[in-house]
Formats: sequence, structure tokens, C-alpha cells
Amino acid sequence: MKNAHIFPASQALQGDMLCPRDKSFSHRAAMVGALAEGKTGVEGFCFCQDTISTLNCLSALGVQIDLFSQEKRVVIQSNGWSSLHEPENILEVGNSGTTIRMLSGIVAGVDGLSILTGDESIRKRPMKRIIEPLRSTGIGMGGRDADRYPPLYIQGKNRLRPFSHRLAVSSAQVKSCLIFAALRGESESYLEEPILSRDHTENMLRYLGARIERWEHRLTVFPAFSLPAKDFCLPGDASSAAFLMAAATLVRGSRVVIEDMGLNPTRTGFLTCLREMGGEVSVTVEDETFQEPRGNVLVESSSLRGMEVTEEMVPGLIDEIPILAVLATQAVGTTVISGAAELRVKESDRLHAIAEGLSRLGADISERPDGLVIQGPVHLRGGRVASYGDHRIAMSLIVAGMVADDEVEVEDMECIGISYPDFFDDLKKIRYSAPKITCEL
Ligand code: S3P
Repeated sequence: MKNAHIFPASQALQGDMLCPRDKSFSHRAAMVGALAEGKTGVEGFCFCQDTISTLNCLSALGVQIDLFSQEKRVVIQSNGWSSLHEPENILEVGNSGTTIRMLSGIVAGVDGLSILTGDESIRKRPMKRIIEPLRSTGIGMGGRDADRYPPLYIQGKNRLRPFSHRLAVSSAQVKSCLIFAALRGESESYLEEPILSRDHTENMLRYLGARIERWEHRLTVFPAFSLPAKDFCLPGDASSAAFLMAAATLVRGSRVVIEDMGLNPTRTGFLTCLREMGGEVSVTVEDETFQEPRGNVLVESSSLRGMEVTEEMVPGLIDEIPILAVLATQAVGTTVISGAAELRVKESDRLHAIAEGLSRLGADISERPDGLVIQGPVHLRGGRVASYGDHRIAMSLIVAGMVADDEVEVEDMECIGISYPDFFDDLKKIRYSAPKITCEL
């Protein structure tokens, strides 16, 4: 295990930098490219452990993929659904919930048996939410422990029964899984989610010509057995950038510009909250491709006040709640986060992991079944904290360490490679020196 020793920032963060590439888009570009007929060039691909898991699984299904990691580009060559075949071996998704859930919707539409599994954390993540609706398409499917967890088996078919399903929890992974399966339907399928979650899958598929209609939170997905390939140029990742934006807000005198960040309103909940807390943020939209606005974000350090984060806001900042909790420790007043029970079934129990880590550093933070209550501002002290092997917890605690009074040791920091392998390099670009890394057995 490798630990990162984080020292308080000794100078303001300054600079303009390209936004880290987007994991969520990258998974989708690879999967959509696999379903399209022809060659899909993807610019701005996020090379991280999770997206590599997706590429490996797609290549095991018969898709040809060429990687150009220096240029952050991949090229996917496929004949669409007809290229996909029963894999010879188990599909190994590593730590990636997006891979296992979304890919299940694809292999549901492929004749033959697929077995999907992943690491210890994946094998504890709830899967009934995809198993039940996918079974209604007429396929064979099941999971460990009475369908609760992976490994999953899927006996797919190349024609699926259309379905109508209301998601119990807003989840873009589940929604995307079912959209992919619906493309293989004999006629249109219907989906509804309680609160709108990120809609990149819909946007990318529509860009290729798929017919997906939305009315409020309801979707109608028409079958699409053949889609022409088109290139994608992906915007930067608002979720990874949240760590940089939080650091720039908290480290006194900072001024950081993040260029080419994705600004899809289903992903910008963190920006909205940062503003509401009194953060100095300005956004300029520069472009919009495949219905996805993108632009530059200027963040300057500022004093913050507490706020209330409600259930309706949660899908728009689902992955940013741990780093928002770090901000809340430095904000004047109380921050209450509710309706976020879904965080308990992410890569770790994120409500518990961040509450534990921040209280070790002296924060006034308590857990509720569905959220957190944080009282600020407090001086964070140094100490040793656990990442729980969860990339977003590790990066949140690293940012906390940048504004703590003393050294913070974040255990098992290698997990940042799951979504953001260049995190320390990017911090260096805005003048924060690299942490000391130590190894432990
Ligand atoms: C993701 C959706 C979210 C998010 C995950 C990525 C996606 O999960 O937490 O990191 O790319 O669709 P849920 O859709 O399950 O909330």
C-alpha cells in the first residue's frame, strides 16, 4: 500500500490548465463506438483504470480498439452489434461500477453467455436494480447472493422484449444500461427516473441518429439495430475538476482557470453549490458538441458559508459530495446534506468514509442515514486517514490536507488512478508541490 503525505499549501494556487479528461464520457464513447458501424475516433479520452476496464471488456467481446495514450485518443472499429460475440472468458471490470452496469445492458443484447465480475468493492455493489428490469426483456440473468451482487451471469439474446421501467433511485448507470438494452428491443421501451441524472448516453446516441425522446423524467427509447459511427471530441470532467476547484477556493490568494470543462447541467451541481456557498466562480461557455456544452471556469479563493443540499440536487453532484463536505468544514455555519443515501453503496460507503476521515482531522461532522451535517469553520489538524481504497475519498482528503495545519497522511492513495491518474501532476501545474509517497506492507 502506498500512502501520500500531504503538507499544507505554502503558496497560492495559480494557473490555467486543461480540465482532466472525463471518465463518464469515455466509458460511453467506447461503448457507443462499439455499437456503431465503422470507425469511431475519440479525442480527449480519459485513460484511467476504470475506462481501461471498459476497453478490455469491449475488446473481449470482439471490438477492435487502438490506443494512443499520449494523445489521449482511442480509435474503435466495429461492425456494430454484429461484431459483438460471446466472450471466451469472464469480463473483468475491476473497480468500475459504470462498466459492469452499462455493459450488462449491451451483453443482454448479444447471443450467448457473459459472466461479469470485478474487485472486492464491485462485488459488494447492488445489482438487483439492473437484474430485475433486464430480466423483463426475456434474457437469463442472475447474481450472487440472491441477485444482490456480482459476479453476474447474463444469457443474452439478439432480440429483446420491449419494457417499461421506473427506476427506484436516479442512476445514470442503470438508465444507460437499460437504454442500451432498449436499442435491441422489438419495439420502443419506456424508462422513468425520479430526478434527472446525467444524460450523456442519450446525447451521444442521438448524435449518431438513435431516436430517444425525453419528456420531463421519462424516456422513450426506440430500437436501433444499426447506427453509423461518428467521431467524438470529449469535454473535461467536472467531477475530477471539483477537487481542483475546491483546492483553489480554500487556499488563500488562489486563482485557477480550468479550460474545456463539460458544462452539461446534469453535471454542474457542484458549481451551483460552490456559488451558493459564496465561492468566486465564473463560467464561460465556449462550445457545444453533441448537445454537451463545454467551457472555461475561473475559480478564486473565497470565504464560504454553509448551505443545505437537498435530495433533488444530489444526482447533479453525486460524486462531488465528499469534496463538498471538505468545503463545508471551512464554511461559516451549518451544511446539511440529505437525500444522499446512495453514497453508501458507491466504491465505499462514502458518507461514512468522509465523515470518519474529516473527523480525524478535527472537523465537526456527523453522519445521518441519508447524509451529513457539518459545522464550520474549523482548523483542520494533521493526522493519518483512510481512503477506503476509494479514489474520490482519497482526493477529498488530499485537498483537506492542503489546508490542514499539519501533515496529513492519506493511506492507500494509489486508488486515485481509478479516475484521475494525473491528479498530482495537475496540482503541480497550479504550483502545489508533489506529496511525499511512502510504501507500507
Ligand atoms: C456515473 C454515474 C454515477 C456516478 C458514477 C459515474 C456514470 O453513478 O456515481 O461515478 O458515468 O454514469 P450512478 O448512476 O449509479 O449514480
